[in-house]
Amino acid sequence: MKIIRIRKSLVILISLLTLTTLVYSAPQITVDVSKPGVQISPTMYGIFFEDINFGADGGLYAELVKNRSFEFDRPMRGWQELHLAGSSGRIFVLRDENRPRNPRFLRIRIEKTGDGFGLSNEGFRGIGIRDGASYRFHIDAGNVSGNISGLRIKLVGQDNRILAAGQIKNLGNDWQTYECELAANGTDPKAKLNIWIEGTGQLDIDMVSLFPKDTWKGRENGLRADLVQLLADMKPGFLRFPGGCIVEGFDLSQRYQWKNTIGDPGERVWNINRWNFEFKHRPTPDYYQSYGLGYYEFFLLAEDISAEPMPIITCGMACQFNTAELVPMDQLAPYVQDALDLIEFANGTADTKWGKIRADMGHPAPFNMKMIGIGNEQWGPQYIDRYKEFAKAIKAKYPDMKLIAATGSDATIFPNGQNEVDYLWSQWRILKPEIVDEHFYRSPKWFLENNNWYDNYERGASKVFVGEYASQSVGVASPDNSNSWKCALYEAAFMTGLERNADLVTMSCYAPLFGHEEAWQWRPNLIWFDNLSSYGSANYYVQKLFSLNAGTRLLAVNTKDIPNFNDKTKALHISSTLDETAGEVIIKAVNVNETAIKSDINLKGSSASGKTATAIVLSSPSLDAENSLAEPTKIFPVEQSIQIKGSAFSYEFPAHSLTILRVPVK
Ligand code: AHR
Repeated sequence: MKIIRIRKSLVILISLLTLTTLVYSAPQITVDVSKPGVQISPTMYGIFFEDINFGADGGLYAELVKNRSFEFDRPMRGWQELHLAGSSGRIFVLRDENRPRNPRFLRIRIEKTGDGFGLSNEGFRGIGIRDGASYRFHIDAGNVSGNISGLRIKLVGQDNRILAAGQIKNLGNDWQTYECELAANGTDPKAKLNIWIEGTGQLDIDMVSLFPKDTWKGRENGLRADLVQLLADMKPGFLRFPGGCIVEGFDLSQRYQWKNTIGDPGERVWNINRWNFEFKHRPTPDYYQSYGLGYYEFFLLAEDISAEPMPIITCGMACQFNTAELVPMDQLAPYVQDALDLIEFANGTADTKWGKIRADMGHPAPFNMKMIGIGNEQWGPQYIDRYKEFAKAIKAKYPDMKLIAATGSDATIFPNGQNEVDYLWSQWRILKPEIVDEHFYRSPKWFLENNNWYDNYERGASKVFVGEYASQSVGVASPDNSNSWKCALYEAAFMTGLERNADLVTMSCYAPLFGHEEAWQWRPNLIWFDNLSSYGSANYYVQKLFSLNAGTRLLAVNTKDIPNFNDKTKALHISSTLDETAGEVIIKAVNVNETAIKSDINLKGSSASGKTATAIVLSSPSLDAENSLAEPTKIFPVEQSIQIKGSAFSYEFPAHSLTILRVPVK
């Protein structure tokens, strides 16, 4: 009886194995190397930056003090009075009307020192302090009276341990800047900054700042080095900034005004961040824009990572999901002038008005900006009217500047059937901006099943920029969305479709870019961080692999016998390019099946026989797996060499994988 059962199971197992082999019998993949096609745009894969999820203040911008010049709506947000036994004193908020860009400062009056009087800053969900690192403390102080002699600065851990200490002595009467360096002897992701005032009397303070010394390239008003490194590692073709909806503002008064973001960081005009109050389920009342990371720093960052700068500017329309406030057409001129001035700031010689400001900030050479986006997610005839004004003025003065036009948001196909995307495209076919920006925040399934989205798109004068996209595992911007391997894998399938249509799609980027583990409003995000660490999501590695292996010319791929995944799509999604510099054929293959697919690969018009190819594989046994701070490289590319023997070769694409094959060719 027992023997019969074992036999039965063996028969079932053998039939299952046979079935698997039968279903996936060697698909044929033929890459035509004989006729390289269109150029792959060097800007094909880029990055989207927006100050959302503490992306700038509290994130990429390395400032560690929150509300450093008391300009939040609640001037003491982030600050606390330190009031030890026997001390007495008061803190007043004052306004200097002669400094309209940054008017507030604190007046501290101390009557009795007792055991200590001062104030404390909580940082952005704490201050990340690292053992062995040095920090630069900065404060503007003045109007000193009584016997106030100096300040004692302390970085204090959650356990009240002093992690670093410094001192400022001989405070003078006039406003002056004082600095000291603090060397840390301990690590804490959630330390605080305490400032103790020595003596009694009166003291005014402003612009209290703390930066790590090891910012990206060691710049004083610098960026977090680990976060920039993750961006640089992607070798992005462009950097889109500063958003996103943040460009538009809740209303026009809160729009992103680039002129407020340049010059002395202490004189930049603060603005509330629209993500402060956008989502009821993720209110972030301490989210403001200091603009310490402003337009100059964006251009510098783009230059540092060899990405084309791509500013997206406000076009006189506030966010259409919020107030949708509009500038009347007869009052649009200053907005248009801002755009012209921005181009001069980026590209003008140092003897032009705005070029001189750039030069004075430290960059005499132009930034060579080549493109500009007019509005973010704008729609309706009002947008077309305003776009035309911008286009007319920009093209008249800068005929080579490429214009990027929007197609609204992904949600602009309204329930009443009104399709804003179609309407805008009908206008763009007439107005012919060089580039049209499309956004997709859809389910992972949609990305997989629509990897052929652009195959039959009308080709015309405008190229397509897939300017924001990301799989939403639960729903658009749902707080339960994940950066699962499934989301990343299906995006990879979609990206093979972007690449196959490289004659039309010349730019693309995932959005949003950054998310603070504790202070996010939106998920998923490409890169996650806390106050000390950061990691790339699975989606990050997909983006990075496409970018690093973009190639220079498109190659046609013919396939036969690819098994079906479901009734709408195949199990294997492939694109191929030629890297003319390296002399390699690059094959990107996304296997969405739960089993490996062994394929026969033929390079038509070339041979790789005798060569060593490289396979870079990104995969995970679980579609639900995610990278995390605890396991930052759970999903991580693995590289191996393959010896190619004949003119055709076979390769097994692992289950649930993205594989990049780099094959040297003659
Ligand atoms: O990426 C997050 C937001 O999604 C962007 O700000 C906006 O452009 C889009 O709606």
